[in-house]
Amino acid sequence: MKNIAIVGGGNLGTAIAEGLAHASKDYKIAVSRRKIEIIQFLSAQGIALTSNNADCIKDCEIIILAVKPKQMGAVIAEIKEYINSSTQILVSVATGVTIAEIEAHLGFVMPIFRAMPNTAVAIRESMTCISSRNSSVEQRQAIVGIFDELGKAILIEENLMEASTVLGACGIAYALRFIRASMQGGIQIGFDSKTALLIAAQTVKGAAELLLQGGQHPESEIDKVTTPQGCTIAGLNEMEHQGFSSSLIRGIATSFQAIDKIQK
Ligand SMILES: NC(=O)c1ccc[n+]([C@@H]2O[C@H](COP(=O)([O-])OP(=O)(O)OC[C@H]3O[C@@H](n4cnc5c(N)ncnc54)[C@H](OP(=O)(O)O)[C@@H]3O)[C@@H](O)[C@H]2O)c1
Repeated sequence: MKNIAIVGGGNLGTAIAEGLAHASKDYKIAVSRRKIEIIQFLSAQGIALTSNNADCIKDCEIIILAVKPKQMGAVIAEIKEYINSSTQILVSVATGVTIAEIEAHLGFVMPIFRAMPNTAVAIRESMTCISSRNSSVEQRQAIVGIFDELGKAILIEENLMEASTVLGACGIAYALRFIRASMQGGIQIGFDSKTALLIAAQTVKGAAELLLQGGQHPESEIDKVTTPQGCTIAGLNEMEHQGFSSSLIRGIATSFQAIDKIQK
């Protein structure tokens, strides 16, 4: 059984705790935040709660820091004297905070990971990109294993963490906006909003599974549904004339530039 402490029981910390509480492996989980009354519902899932960060990280093997980037310095200052750098592993999920900055807050060297999940972690369907410093093969396997319980996880170089934030974490919002726009089109051509949502969402899920399970390039699946002179290619080409791919690519590039402005 792995002991995991999550410091910062907000949206993401809570979702990770709940995901791990329902994982196939056995995890002993403790969560801390100052306003602990807000997350009392986690107790019923066997998760220990505390407003004392030092108590939270005591005896755990893995410390997940799930606070806002600008809260990171204060939280590390509070817990660093209780950290055992030779037996514990630190995992930060804070956007834009580098491993070098975490090391500078700590003032000592230890295995440090950055992980970038997305909100689908709540239903254990996250895409999580992970990078690390001073870690062993076993430690990397352990951390990837934890996030694999919450969806899919891969190791990447730290210089790609911001790009992974945009494509994976912001990407949830881009995909949802695509579904909403499909719904609006669906309503215009005859469906009520509930039915349009079901059709649009399940269709996106099916498209994603075709790629994930089949390992194909999207264009080869598109070829299968674009009959010459048919309605799919007519609509698809009109979308491209209106800047569909271009607007998505430009939006991703704009999000990437905006990451530098995150307050730390
Ligand atoms: N949401 C996402 O989709 C997502 C995805 C990937 C990464 N992230 C990153 O994950 C981090 C958390 O995001 P979030 O959306 O979960 O934010 P959030 O809901 O604001 O959660 C942050 C939590 O930290 C707690 N906290 C603040 N100071 C603390 C302290 N000194 N000791 C203990 N707990 C403290 C806060 O609770 P109290 O005020 O009660 O202490 C709050 O619940 C951010 O760095 C974000 O960049 C988020």
